[in-house]
Amino acid sequence: MNVLVVGSGGREHVICACAAKSVKTDKLYCVPGNAGIAEVAECAPIGAMEFDKIVAFAKEKEVDLVIVGMDDPLVGGLVDELEAAGIRTFGPRKNAAILEGSKAFSKDLMKKYHIPTAAYENFTDPEKALRYLETAKFPIVLKADGLALGKGVLICNNLEEAEEGVKTIMLDKKFGSAGNEMVIEEFMTGREVSVLSFVDGNTIKTMTSAQDHKRAGDGDTGLNTGGMGTFSPSPFYTKEVDEFCRKYIYQATVDAMKAEGRPFKGVIFFGLMLTKDGPKVLEYNARFGDPEAQVVLPRMKNDLIDVAEACIDGTLDQVDLQFEDNASVCVVLASEGYPVAYDKGIPIHGLEEFEKHEGYYCFHAGTKLEGGQFVTNGGRVLGITAKGADLKEARANAYAASEWVQFDNKYMRHDIGKAIDEA
Ligand code: AMP
Ligand code: GLY
Repeated sequence: MNVLVVGSGGREHVICACAAKSVKTDKLYCVPGNAGIAEVAECAPIGAMEFDKIVAFAKEKEVDLVIVGMDDPLVGGLVDELEAAGIRTFGPRKNAAILEGSKAFSKDLMKKYHIPTAAYENFTDPEKALRYLETAKFPIVLKADGLALGKGVLICNNLEEAEEGVKTIMLDKKFGSAGNEMVIEEFMTGREVSVLSFVDGNTIKTMTSAQDHKRAGDGDTGLNTGGMGTFSPSPFYTKEVDEFCRKYIYQATVDAMKAEGRPFKGVIFFGLMLTKDGPKVLEYNARFGDPEAQVVLPRMKNDLIDVAEACIDGTLDQVDLQFEDNASVCVVLASEGYPVAYDKGIPIHGLEEFEKHEGYYCFHAGTKLEGGQFVTNGGRVLGITAKGADLKEARANAYAASEWVQFDNKYMRHDIGKAIDEA
């Protein structure tokens, strides 16, 4: 069959790598893609929000299956448009992608269906939010309701910071219309774990766990980023934690969405915090995490196309989802200055090394080709993933492979997976 992937980052590169491996795939396309993706898929310069062009492209290329990787087109309703044109698509419809698109919606859903999460209040009126804060306990967490590139969450240590935060989100509209509504929630402490899952509307099958590193600097310092590295599995995601989440979180979320008339098909990403009172949901995403996908999918034994089709057809209960009994670590190579300001167009060397080694991957996030030469084209440039028999071996391998690649303003964290030593 002909398969089209929508997106342009490291997540879409690993999705394309899996799709390319499938015996079912005849021809693979990606829009807009990037220079690395272009090695496994035919890319076309169509933006992920150009719905009409994507539908026309899928028709022209006789695409049998579309996989939407990114949050914006999912929340904007790309799946609905493709389905309306008769094109099978993996991903939630607009009315289900709201699980990620509106934090106020997802908090209300969790409250209504007794899914463990931080205590909270939603606000559409900044005055009311400010009054609420006068009697609140600190630190406290402010969240812009809508999509804000992972940046719409502010942790405020005192009343002054929180008042400033309300102003930033609701009055100055730093995150645009994402700040028309706001969630104020209890600050929780504990380890964070990401659990991705396949969902077919009724059945949910979770993938192996992972942990992200969101801050830019070593020791979790500096600004929040899209993610500087991941490891999988998380040693803190124990059998007991898994049992608790199965009982109170995973199926409960799928059933809640169905009960609300918003059946969810696609990937639900559970951002969990393991608090002393048990696991709680920090956030939901309606797609694979990035860079979580870069450590989780290389360990998956199943054919991704098979699983995607089972989600669309509602036959996920018949899929035996399996992961390798090993570990993987992804180190993101970024441009110095990310996530604020950085140079682009810098030549990248050493990529050919990955062809010589089994179990090592170089997923492209922000690259392009200039006269046959790969150059940097974004803040996050590459995701270097390596497998190992265990987490320590995978980490050593990923850091060794990170040295194969050279570009002038290369920046990475040196402590991805440090938490493993505390397990
Ligand atoms: P979110 O986009 O909701 O996952 O938030 C981004 C990050 O902010 C999370 O990965 C956490 O590190 C942090 N965070 C979000 N909500 C809370 C909370 N209620 N308590 C503590 N930290 C939080
Ligand atoms: N790595 C976090 C995310 O994909 O949102």
